[in-house]
Amino acid sequence: MATTNPDSPSTPSPSQFIFVICQNGAESATKSEIMNNHSNLNLAFSRPGFITFKVNSESPLPKRFTLKSALARTYGWSLGKCTSQDANSMIDEISTNPQFKNSNHLHVWQRDPVTPGKNGFEPGVSTLADEIGTLFKTAAETAGAKISVNKETKPDEQVFDIVMVEPNEWWYGYHFASTVAGRWPGGTPAIDTSVETYSRAYFKLSEALLWSGITIQPGDICAEIGSAPGGACQLLLEKGAHVIGIDPAEMETGILEHENFVHIRKRGSDVRRKEFRNTKWLLSDLNADPKFAIETVAEIVNHPLVDVKGIILTLKFSEWKNTASIPDLMNAIKALGFQVVKARQLAFNRREICLVAVKDKFVLRLGKKHAKTKKQTSSEKPKS
Ligand SMILES: C[S@@+](CC[C@H](N)C(=O)[O-])C[C@H]1O[C@@H](n2cnc3c(N)ncnc32)[C@H](O)[C@@H]1O
Repeated sequence: MATTNPDSPSTPSPSQFIFVICQNGAESATKSEIMNNHSNLNLAFSRPGFITFKVNSESPLPKRFTLKSALARTYGWSLGKCTSQDANSMIDEISTNPQFKNSNHLHVWQRDPVTPGKNGFEPGVSTLADEIGTLFKTAAETAGAKISVNKETKPDEQVFDIVMVEPNEWWYGYHFASTVAGRWPGGTPAIDTSVETYSRAYFKLSEALLWSGITIQPGDICAEIGSAPGGACQLLLEKGAHVIGIDPAEMETGILEHENFVHIRKRGSDVRRKEFRNTKWLLSDLNADPKFAIETVAEIVNHPLVDVKGIILTLKFSEWKNTASIPDLMNAIKALGFQVVKARQLAFNRREICLVAVKDKFVLRLGKKHAKTKKQTSSEKPKS
């Protein structure tokens, strides 16, 4: 008997629509990027931070589709919306959906109300979203099923999604966690934003490491161009790295006084190349045009004395429309000899993206192995 392959290009899409989450304000740029890269998708509905697309039935998407997009935070099949003033009636309606019953995981979150970092807002699952998630869990248990709520999933697991677009308007759907960010609720990793940091760059770098798979190991030499006031250096120092901060501006005293920190109070292009001789990870976070940032990095990486394993760049855009240059920026980095080049607008980024590149893809796997070993070692330690 013939069987149907759900991922075959000729199999109809499981829904006519997909949903995409992006940063509040990034909708236009995200729509352009996605429609340029996927000619079978047409805009259907848009609210700040939330977009749906209709899939052309002539050219369906596979069940476990991935989007070619640096700006999409996460995405999945859209099954529709539920509107009511009564949360319980929305829970009753959504929890009877067959895909809810098929999923072991539920991710429920509110769309971003403003740009990350504005008025103290940081992305992540809100208390309200968690409370609604608990009510769904109870509804599943009442029906004799089990569902985990707002937990990071394993790769490829099916996740039921509820996006609280408005308090009384919840969109729902599902996805398969085929990307790293697809495993996090709303595409945002659970980062503790209550820690005191010298700048938000601490959160951006935390997310960049989780997303890229780069592990900073104790003793690694890291250099950051554009390091003041010092949030990223703070995280690197916490991880036991030796850090060179390059910035004409003043660093925070807590960073300057750290025994593993050296400040070169200059512009990146004025630093002698031999200062980067032993640098393993090169970071850049300049408030400058992305092309300038890449030229500055390229001059360092191309020098014969320098042999970095990878780079982590925060590239800032003066206007959203300039994000159309992301593919060119990635190509410029590839041309420097990097084997893996990835770009993503992190949940903690503002009008900027994170571009990560490594010379050898195995360095990411080594990082994972190390992280695992480290975790085991720390759990073996006696509690003090
Ligand atoms: C967004 S801030 C960096 C934040 C920093 N990464 C942190 O963790 O707190 C941008 C910094 O780039 C610095 N900058 C701008 N142009 C530079 C250049 N050519 N070389 C080095 N630093 C530069 C600025 O002085 C500013 O401190």
